[in-house]
Order: sequence, then C-alpha cells, then structure tokens
Amino acid sequence: MFDLLLVNARLPDGRCGVSVCVKDGLIHEVSTDPALRHAAAAEIIDAQDQLLTPPFVDPHFHMDSTLSYGQPRVNQSGTLLEGIALWGELKPLLKQQDLIERAMTYCDWAVANGLLAIRSHVDVSDPRLLAVEALLEVQARVKPYLDLQLVAFPQDGLLRSSGAFVNLKRALDMGVDVVGGIPHFERTMVDGSTSIRMLCELAAEQGRMVDMHCDESDDPNSRHVEVLAEQTHRLGLHGRVTGSHLTSMHSMDNYYVSKLMPLMAEARLHVVANPLINITLQGRHDTYPKRRGMTRVPELMHAGLNVAFGQDCVMDPWYSLGSGDMLEVAHMGLHVAQMTSQVGMQQCFDAVTVNAAKVLGLDGYGIAPGCRADFVLLQAGSAAEAIRLRATRLMVFKAGRLIASTVPRTAHLSMAGRDARVDWRV
Ligand code: FE2
Repeated sequence: MFDLLLVNARLPDGRCGVSVCVKDGLIHEVSTDPALRHAAAAEIIDAQDQLLTPPFVDPHFHMDSTLSYGQPRVNQSGTLLEGIALWGELKPLLKQQDLIERAMTYCDWAVANGLLAIRSHVDVSDPRLLAVEALLEVQARVKPYLDLQLVAFPQDGLLRSSGAFVNLKRALDMGVDVVGGIPHFERTMVDGSTSIRMLCELAAEQGRMVDMHCDESDDPNSRHVEVLAEQTHRLGLHGRVTGSHLTSMHSMDNYYVSKLMPLMAEARLHVVANPLINITLQGRHDTYPKRRGMTRVPELMHAGLNVAFGQDCVMDPWYSLGSGDMLEVAHMGLHVAQMTSQVGMQQCFDAVTVNAAKVLGLDGYGIAPGCRADFVLLQAGSAAEAIRLRATRLMVFKAGRLIASTVPRTAHLSMAGRDARVDWRV
C-alpha cells in the first residue's frame, strides 16, 4: 500500500502516461506500466497528462535584501554600484525581525511557485551579523518544506572591508554552509586574486563548497574566473566551486575564452547566470550598441560545464521586480541567450531544475526511484510550454505531501453568441 499514487503524468524527458508511487516520503517507483495505475494507495491523483517536474531550484539569491525595495530610497541609476551603495545605507537600519519577516514572506512565494530549494548569499560585512542570525533562524523554520542553503558573502570585499575575513569565518562557525566572495569588487586585480586564494584555502580546510560572485562586470579584463578555476584545481576542489554571474565573459576576447573554458571545465566549475539581473545591470555604461552582459550560457554548456540560472534579486536595491518564479528566470535566460531551439528550451528548463540542484549538491533530487517525493505538477505539456506560459503550479508536493496548490488558468469567453472555455495551452 503506497501513501500516494500519481497517475497519468508527463515528465520533462518526454515520457507520458507515467505513474509515480510514493511511500514514506520517497519515490518508490516510476513507470509507464499501465498495471501500476491500479496499485493500492491511500491517495490517488490523476495528473491529467500534465507535466510533473522535480521542484524548481534557485542557485543564487539574496534573501537578506529581498522585499526591501524603496528602503531607504530607490536605485536611481540602476547600476550595480549604486545598488551596493544603497544596500550600505540600508544595512545600519536593518532589524532582525524585519529580516525574518521579509524572508519568510519570500519563502511563502517560493513554495507557491514550486521553488523548494534556494541557495542564498548572506552579507557578512556587518560585524553584528544580524542578517546571518536572521537567515539561520529562517533556515530552521522553513526546513520542513524548503531547503535553504546559505553562503557567507563579503559584499563589501574580503580585503577592502576591514574585519570581513573574521566575520566570514564567524558566520561559517555559526552554521552558514558555503564560502562566498566578490573578487572583482576588491581594490585591485591582485587583491581579487588574493581573496580567491584565501577563500578557496579556507573552503579546502573546512571541507566546504565555494560560490563567488565573480567578474560581475562589463570589463573584459576582469578575469578572476581564471584564478578561481586555477585555485579549484590546485586545491582539489573539483565540482565543489561555483562562479556566479561571470558577466565579463560576455565582453571577453573570443581567443582568450577559447583557452578559459577548458580550464573551467577541467576544474568542473559550476556556472550560475542571473538573466533578469544581468540584462538590467550590465551594459549601463554603454551608449549603443548596449551589451546584454549575460555570460556565454550555450557555449559553456557545450564545453561540458554545469550551467544554472538564478533569480538573484527580488524587489531590493538592485532589482525592482521579480516574484520567485524560476520559469520567469528561464524565460528571460532563453531570450537573452537566444536558446530558442527545442534543445535550447529544454536546457533552459534544466537550468532552473536539475542543473541548479547540482550546484547546491542536493541529494535525492529527481523523479526516480529512491529520490525524495518532492515534485510539482504544472499546467503544461512540456518543458518548453512551461517556460512559454510561466505555467501555473497546480500542485506542489514535499515528501509526498501536498503543500501548495493553484487553480488552473482558464478563461470563460462569451462573445458573438458563442460560449467557450479557453485554457492557456490553446
Ligand atoms: Fe548576487
């Protein structure tokens, strides 16, 4: 007797007529065998040929600043640097309860959107570490339904901001998971390289993953990712290090990139692009033509790197929009990278699901026997359609339990003597 039997589902890999059996919070069986539709289960749900996907995963977010838009003022220039300055104005005004409440609200949005795992950077530049305390509290509160992984992020620079390295190590001791960095924001290229070496050595000593904001710039000479790959290789951190943003790669010389990408692949770096933020923050010093700024997503995928898309910001000093909808992120990534082929659209869906799960190192992720029974039923027939429609999350399951649901999007038309019901797939 299963706890849950979900029948007649489509999977992102194209299989249809699939039954998924759940027992004790785990997926027990996934099969197209018609006999399985009649298995005994406490609860049976007909997916009605809709798309069943593993949950969305956001590999890059800032939960300490989310939903603070307009506090204490809005970003007038729209630049990354004004955003950092604005966040610096807000930091002394932060209160722990406000941080917790904003983060909890965002987690509600995330769950409603089928987003059940988030890697959030948390700024450790403030010696009070208020945001660290707040997000550790949030991490514990949401644990039953959302995996929140935290990165110790020295927003004001590891070497540029006094005490940052000590604060970062304190944050790790308090329970933060991952080592962060921001080499392009240090005073010099040399300091940037030094910060990468210090942080990778710390991660190697403590057996931790690394995720650095790296080369978030239009400057083609911002080449810290090369150092990140080299230090990853030197310290044996292969597959445990992520380069986030890498927007300077958009503007780099093609010959240099032809040497760089194999170095990144050798180090098995993960790459996170943040399409909504990259397309709005980069190219701000350009007149025309204006660069898009997003890193070379299809080329990096072709070179064998694991590339994922992140949300990065929602209603904060850097971005005034966003809603925790990873299909919106995939939609923008697809457009900016011109990944309009069938394969490209599938890759964009992977970038907010399986690829992002690899960045976080999630265990038991996927729709396969032995995986956690975490999945989302979408009002769509394929991954491409899910992106096209930013499809409604009909049902969101955690450990086989329904934790969120949304009614299907339909319209009832009455015109010219004709009544019709239109769903958004027509
Ligand atoms: Fe970021």
